[in-house]
Amino acid sequence: MDGLDVTACKRCQNLVESRSQIVNGVGPADAELVFVGEAPGANEDEHGEPFVGRSGDVLDDALNEVGVSRDTIRITNCVRCRPPENRNPKTEELSNCRRYLEHELSVIDPAVIVTLGKVPSEHLLDRQVAVTTAAGDVVDIRLGDESHRVIISVHPAATLYDQSHSDTFVNTIKSAASLAGVQSDTDSANNAESGGQSRLGEYED
Ligand code: URA
Repeated sequence: MDGLDVTACKRCQNLVESRSQIVNGVGPADAELVFVGEAPGANEDEHGEPFVGRSGDVLDDALNEVGVSRDTIRITNCVRCRPPENRNPKTEELSNCRRYLEHELSVIDPAVIVTLGKVPSEHLLDRQVAVTTAAGDVVDIRLGDESHRVIISVHPAATLYDQSHSDTFVNTIKSAASLAGVQSDTDSANNAESGGQSRLGEYED
């Protein structure tokens, strides 16, 4: 492993055959908010970046709505190679890739991890999770010697099949941003507007 990127891995024979490249996490190594998805799909496999297809558009829209820039967050997956026919990653594949995810979360040590969907939620919480009812729940987990704060979310793709999940998804991202102390663009704009207040201090006396 070279830093946060996996540059070569042949632990899962099936995935070595189905991938065209390893899709590593993207975003700053000091991000306070980390999103963890399931595994790359066809678009991600082609571009070498997580969440760049339709699910990525849903994620981007939610981030925009909440006022968080994609540049300030990190996005990664439980499994870094595209499973054939977009099937869910198998238990063995999840466990083969777990060391990379744990290393990434340990180095970044974000304030909040958002698990996008059932697979990452169950993988990190190590129990069954009914994501549609648990969405928005905050859970503290232990990975090795470390403790991390997780917010459970529905997968962005779920909002494409069932519009009723859209509000749940956006509200979860909003809670996550607030819990992580990630300042929204709106807050920044408001702060800029109230910049006169701090200048008042300068001109006091
Ligand atoms: N779905 C995921 O879970 N991860 C991606 O990177 C893209 C879609």
